[in-house]
Amino acid sequence: MPAVCVAAGLALVLAAQGCHSSATHGAPAPASQHAAAGGAASAIPARAAATFPADWRFAAGKPATIAAHAMIASNSELASEAGVEVLRKGGNAVDAAVAVGFALAVTLPEAGNIGGGGFMVIRMADGRSAAFDYREVAPLAATATMYAHSDGTTGTESVVGPLAVGVPGAVAGLAAASKTFGRLPLREVMAPAIRLARDGFVADSAFSLSVAHARGRIAPYAGASVFLPYGEAPAPGTRFTQPALARTLALIASDGPDAFYHGPIADAIAEEMRNDGGIITREDLARYTAVRRVPLASTYRGYTLYTMPPPSSGGVTIIEALNILETYPSLPPFGTAAYAHELTDAFQRAFIDRNGKLGDPAFVEVPVARLTGKPYAHEVRSTMADHAQPTSRLATTVPEGSQTTHYSVVDADGNAVATTTTLNDLYGSGVFVRGAGFFLNDEMDDFAAHPGLPNQFGLVEGPQNAIAPGKRMLSSMAPTIVLDPGGQLFLVTGGRGGPRIITSTAEVILNTIDYHMDLADALAAPRIHHQAIPDQLRYERNGLTQAVRDSLAAMGYTLGEGQATGTCAAVMRVPGGYAGAVDPRATGGAAGY
Ligand code: GLY
Repeated sequence: MPAVCVAAGLALVLAAQGCHSSATHGAPAPASQHAAAGGAASAIPARAAATFPADWRFAAGKPATIAAHAMIASNSELASEAGVEVLRKGGNAVDAAVAVGFALAVTLPEAGNIGGGGFMVIRMADGRSAAFDYREVAPLAATATMYAHSDGTTGTESVVGPLAVGVPGAVAGLAAASKTFGRLPLREVMAPAIRLARDGFVADSAFSLSVAHARGRIAPYAGASVFLPYGEAPAPGTRFTQPALARTLALIASDGPDAFYHGPIADAIAEEMRNDGGIITREDLARYTAVRRVPLASTYRGYTLYTMPPPSSGGVTIIEALNILETYPSLPPFGTAAYAHELTDAFQRAFIDRNGKLGDPAFVEVPVARLTGKPYAHEVRSTMADHAQPTSRLATTVPEGSQTTHYSVVDADGNAVATTTTLNDLYGSGVFVRGAGFFLNDEMDDFAAHPGLPNQFGLVEGPQNAIAPGKRMLSSMAPTIVLDPGGQLFLVTGGRGGPRIITSTAEVILNTIDYHMDLADALAAPRIHHQAIPDQLRYERNGLTQAVRDSLAAMGYTLGEGQATGTCAAVMRVPGGYAGAVDPRATGGAAGY
């Protein structure tokens, strides 16, 4: 296979002060021999040069952002910097993660949110771990067949407009994490977000294009007056302010989440619902609670993973796929047909289980222990062959995607936070809470909203994920923290992209553990995806060579170009500090100090 350069740059690079902010392209600074944060650190497994196909769009060997003490990577440089501001004020990684979450609601309104939900996995340097589930829930008036038309047809109501909205969880979840693990009061943690909303930020071309592309989603609702003044998206270079959102955030900062679930913001949401024909009431909001859960813990080749349990499918599916891959003593060379076959087989099997067996554990029995157990991986492996096997022959249940955002945070003590949050589609349902300044999600489509039929991501799910009042819809979000075999923090990662979150996150983990890539290469490497249904091996353009594609076709795979990847944001421990990087397919940047 032809190769381009490699020389992955661990030429490190620390600035004693100061961050190499926004830095997928941060210039290397002089190296430091600082001990890594978090106490006596175990040796960091050596990195190796990456080799990508010759015509792959990203060159190997680009540097990540490097800092000595702490690092944040998110889909908004301004939000990453907001997190660093809070760290510098004495906040810990959880404070910084909460600051980034609220800042993303301002600077990345396509996915950052207070009108949606998410999941946060925490691993403190003292060994404590936690997971916060602030997934949306179905409103009390929701029913399993609420999207079925009387003539048997289906429409777009689970995706666009007021009926698509699940009861938002983000404010409850961020506040709960802040209260439980943070050091600073919410008002200090939220100060950067409030400032960004009140004083505004300069729109860049990515922001402007994002709004312009979403015109059809935004224009019918109250957000049009904010995001499409005079009918146009804010032009690059202009200052974009959100005074109503600044007031809403200030109210949450002063009165806590009660302002959102019991106070004036709840009134505004309920009124918006009444005006637009939605079903979320004050009672739905008053009943909402974020849930603290025990993260799933597993091992992969001696590394330890902490990741999100149901109602996200992300953790279970990643663990099952990695366990299957661990049954091979080692993985074939990166990018070969054998590599693509082994990964695809593992993803296909794990998604069959995901699609048929996972749902909200408060409503359905979820066989987490079995699916994430090593014996199960061996059972599955024993049924694998040296060629493709159709999902229809493997699946015993009918199986079942998104615009989401992930950020990763590590502080100077080695505390780590992985958070993924979403409105589902870009700008969610389009519905905008007038006067309060934020979009509401369209997460109801993550249920099996049209039983037996594919959702917007082609996922077909079973009755485990049927709609019921108060139930959380299955997610693919997979915030994950990895410790090295010595028990020291190694990697904080996760991604956006519906079901492709799972495969992209797993591939970043494999790239760093099995292929020893450094962080920027691990994120830039070409990805593949299989979600059982549709029964296709998806690959990125030029991500597999023609010879590899021919071999895979000969093995019986149906190949499809595109829709093969999500995008990830990650932090990795490196000699002397931390590397941070955002997927080169995405916006954003890393910042540290
Ligand atoms: N809304 C995408 C997900 O939760 O998987």
